[in-house]
Amino acid sequence: MKHLISPLDLSVEETEEILTLAEDIARDPKKYSHVCQGKKLATLFYEPSTRTRLSFEAAMLNLGGSVLGFASGDNSSASKGESVADTIRVVSGYADIAAMRHPKEGAALVASLNSSIPVINAGDGGHQHPTQTLTDLLTIHSLKGRLDHLTIGLCGDLKFGRTVHSLISALVRYPDIRFVLISPEELRIPAYIRKEVLQQNQVEFIETEDLEEAMPELDILYMTRVQKERFFNEEDYIRLKDKYILDTAKMKLAKEDMLVLHPLPRVNEISVEVDKDPRAAYFKQAQFGVYARMALIMKFLEVEVC
Ligand code: NCD
Repeated sequence: MKHLISPLDLSVEETEEILTLAEDIARDPKKYSHVCQGKKLATLFYEPSTRTRLSFEAAMLNLGGSVLGFASGDNSSASKGESVADTIRVVSGYADIAAMRHPKEGAALVASLNSSIPVINAGDGGHQHPTQTLTDLLTIHSLKGRLDHLTIGLCGDLKFGRTVHSLISALVRYPDIRFVLISPEELRIPAYIRKEVLQQNQVEFIETEDLEEAMPELDILYMTRVQKERFFNEEDYIRLKDKYILDTAKMKLAKEDMLVLHPLPRVNEISVEVDKDPRAAYFKQAQFGVYARMALIMKFLEVEVC
């Protein structure tokens, strides 16, 4: 039985299998509409979510399965003091697979150690978000045709942004990937990503505060929201939240085939006028999230099209 806690729980080959399956699902979703009949997905969400939870649920429903779960810790027994370990032990008897989002780093790992069904980390605090990464890889592969030979700009809250940590960890495994890490000094990527992921894999990267200067060389620009809920004080959040706003003037500096990605939700970091630009791919990306999760559920439940 497999769990997905970090993107590295999937080998490059397994990741590729999931992306290939997801691309086939995107082409012909009807073919897959009954493969998970009789199977149940539990969504255990202790932290707010729109896309991740709903796309997981849509994915399982599209496969002919059913869903059960909760959308906030407040309306589960967590509010009575139940541990994640006890909850997953019980849910293992109610469902075939579980997706968990939790504000604490490591919560999904704890769940996986106490579970008899596959556990998928749907975001653990400021740590990792591996299914967003599958979504991002699928978007890049589908729209760019490759996952190698790319210069990727990651902009915004690189400190607390779990989608950034997972995406970097997954992409360093492909040839000729360069990162331009654009953030204010206070929101630079954590030291463990810089040392254990980037430097250890001898991946080229630069850290800068200057988005405009970085624009012309990027193949992908991955914008992120400043993660308000992870700040210890409101003043710092207010000072940093609008540091980067991608607008049409900045888009003029970019390559004609650059893609703008964002895991969403967006606050102010991409001005709505950019939505009309053909290079803006973030709403397509949200749709790819359903296909990526359909493929992942199929792989983990070991179901195939007959
Ligand atoms: C992200 C998350 O929850 O980490 N959202 C998502 O899953 N699409 C990004 C964010 O909340 O800023």
